Amino acid sequence: MKEILLAYFSRSGVTKKLSEDLAKVLDAEIYQVRPLKAYPLEEDECIQVAEREKAEEARPGLAGPLPEVRGLKKLVLGLPNWNDTCPRCLLSFLEALDLSGVEVYPFVTSEGSGPDGVNEDLQEQVKRTAKLHKAANGDQMSVEDLAAWVRGGKLD
Ligand SMILES: Cc1cc2nc3c(=O)[nH]c(=O)nc-3n(C[C@H](O)[C@H](O)[C@H](O)COP(=O)(O)O)c2cc1C
Repeated sequence: MKEILLAYFSRSGVTKKLSEDLAKVLDAEIYQVRPLKAYPLEEDECIQVAEREKAEEARPGLAGPLPEVRGLKKLVLGLPNWNDTCPRCLLSFLEALDLSGVEVYPFVTSEGSGPDGVNEDLQEQVKRTAKLHKAANGDQMSVEDLAAWVRGGKLD
């Protein structure tokens, strides 16, 4: 397996495109996190579902097999900002993996809120196993800068 895995969740394609570009530059494996029950395509409806999942601290089920993470050094996580936090299916994904010793590099796309809201949730999910870097703003960094950040390996 490659040293870097890029796992992403994307509902409307923005994070998917950035993830695919970044995975190429990093020569990383790529994995798409897919919830068993797809989120609504209509944004307002999706916001309601996301709010409900957040209030319930839900861990929605995932579709398909999980990726192999044995021997993994770095996990890059691509995610959209949802109501100033991270989509709950990403927490299901993190919860299901043994990330002992893995460095996690999240980057966030949004319509302006940026990555600030996601750090706490991610930290809570990986606190005992992984080293979490502060989430990067995927809308304000070039693919090359994101790749340099992941390659650099310094904890922020
Ligand atoms: C349920 C939901 C909640 C969102 N909440 C926010 C938000 O709080 N702040 C923001 O700037 N954008 C928010 N957005 C917009 C997305 O973060 C943005 O469009 C993102 O780039 C979409 O990524 P995707 O195409 O990979 O799904 C929200 C979108 C959805 C569907």
